[in-house]
Amino acid sequence: MRFHLPNRAAKILVFLIALSFWGCSATQPPAPVEAGTGNSIKIGRILASRNGIVVCVEENAARIGAQVLADGGNAVDAAVATAFALAVTHPQAGNIAGGGFMIIRSPDGEVDAVDYRETAPLAFHPEIFLTPDGKIDKNKVENPHLLVGVPGTVAGLALAHGRHGKRPFHLLLMPAIRLAMEGFIVPPLLAHDLRQNARKLSRHSATSRVFFHWNGNPLAAGERLKQPELGSILRAIASEGPDIFYQDWIADTIARTVRKGGGLLTADDFKTYEAKLRKPIKFPLAGGTLIGMPPPSSGGIAVAQILGILEDLPVRKFDPLGPRAAHVLAEAMRRVFRDRAMYLGDPDFVDVPVERLLSLAHLKKLRDSIDMKKATPSEKLWFEPLAENEGGETTHISVIDRDGMAVSNTYTLERSFGGGVMVSGTGILLNNELGDFNFRPGHTDRKGLIGTLPNIPMACKRPLSSMSPTLYVRDNKVEIITGSPGGRTIINTVACILFNRVFQEQSPAHCVWGPRLHHKWFPDRITLEKSAWPDATAKALARMGHTIHEQPAQGSAHSIFLDPVRGYVGVGDFRRDGWAAGPVQ
Ligand code: DON
Repeated sequence: MRFHLPNRAAKILVFLIALSFWGCSATQPPAPVEAGTGNSIKIGRILASRNGIVVCVEENAARIGAQVLADGGNAVDAAVATAFALAVTHPQAGNIAGGGFMIIRSPDGEVDAVDYRETAPLAFHPEIFLTPDGKIDKNKVENPHLLVGVPGTVAGLALAHGRHGKRPFHLLLMPAIRLAMEGFIVPPLLAHDLRQNARKLSRHSATSRVFFHWNGNPLAAGERLKQPELGSILRAIASEGPDIFYQDWIADTIARTVRKGGGLLTADDFKTYEAKLRKPIKFPLAGGTLIGMPPPSSGGIAVAQILGILEDLPVRKFDPLGPRAAHVLAEAMRRVFRDRAMYLGDPDFVDVPVERLLSLAHLKKLRDSIDMKKATPSEKLWFEPLAENEGGETTHISVIDRDGMAVSNTYTLERSFGGGVMVSGTGILLNNELGDFNFRPGHTDRKGLIGTLPNIPMACKRPLSSMSPTLYVRDNKVEIITGSPGGRTIINTVACILFNRVFQEQSPAHCVWGPRLHHKWFPDRITLEKSAWPDATAKALARMGHTIHEQPAQGSAHSIFLDPVRGYVGVGDFRRDGWAAGPVQ
């Protein structure tokens, strides 16, 4: 059903209100924009500060990061403490047994791109998900144990901290340990997500013991969640160091659980795991530099390509909510997702032509192929096309400290609560990240099943990711820190934010709270956030030949922007209960 409202402002208002009532993604409308003040911490949905800001999906974790800044820690310290805290308070995606990517820019301009993506076990091979006659084996792709990759989070956070941290590592775990041991009050978003995922979670007794009452009901908002077993593991990591996760009984216990359920992880897989430093993607854009994550994330290249295609079009003149802006965004996304499928994979296994993909000549060719009046059928760009499901959970943390050190970190268990499997006696929820491989080599179809070869499963390989932690730097200052959950929509969420800020000079609030769209080549359609875009835009897009599809909300991009007057402005994305917190001084 569409709303018929007199003007765009009313439409956006309805969108925001609708989302606030749509339990899954928005537990609160973005109305309370004023930051509240605690002893040494300010917190709000939107917060301006010159003393540093942490923006993330959960209030306790945001406060913990901000307290680290208040205590003299830097942005990496705050990001590490926040990430460990989210492993306790946001188990949908916060984790110690998942993986992700962190981009760090020091005040002197040096950039680290930390890859802590999960790897496939040594026993993996290209046909791992197939039946003997070459079809996708449902039992295999739906077995959460088989989808568990070697977790990267502990190694990744330790690597980032080892290179940049100022505060002792073990101290950064203390708040998370306390929250796990003493418990915290379940927020509405977690209660909602437990209900949504109850079937999956209650299949695993170790998981249901933690998140469910004896009568089978999940914990409700306002109840206290204690996770003493997880607290003990965090305490072991704090006291023995991060290696204990990989070299010792924790690795053995995880591997045993996975194998018992039909997965392939062994203790040897843990011993050989490494978080890696990669060469960041740096792409010149509008007088500044876009900094993104290189493969095995597709995010840096894809976001840079979308913006690079659009930069030389007259996009600054386009109404940000009008059909011309939506059309060119979708057309750029369509082309970039084709390149993603054809060329991107783990660079330790696949030669990714990064420079060619980002060359002006290639971007011009893509731009020139856009018809400004008509949708280009995706078929024309290649032949055939993946299961339509961007659901699940990932979470993003943006941090700036008072010296200008910036951290953009996205990490995940892949689906909400991963595959729902918890390792008994440890409180550790396992990822199901290996579902990001292309299951059926060579088979790509119109529905969106991608079988291109760069991302087929192989032993020790990292599955291609869309996670796109991003920075935008101009005049040696970080102007934007952003990233999002949302599977392949992540790339397009980040592209929309950069489009709105860099080209359209929209306010921080508009950039995060305003409407988004998504096109991923196949299925050949534009996905618009429901009720967010003016009807006239949707109708004009349909007339141009686009198929319109709607979804309630796209992503959750907790972001920070440089404001010429107010210093940095952190904006929590209301779609997933985001909070911005910072030290009072
Ligand atoms: O790495 C990726 O691209 C996916 N595993 C991320 C999953 C995700 O964002 C699900 N969240 N909403």
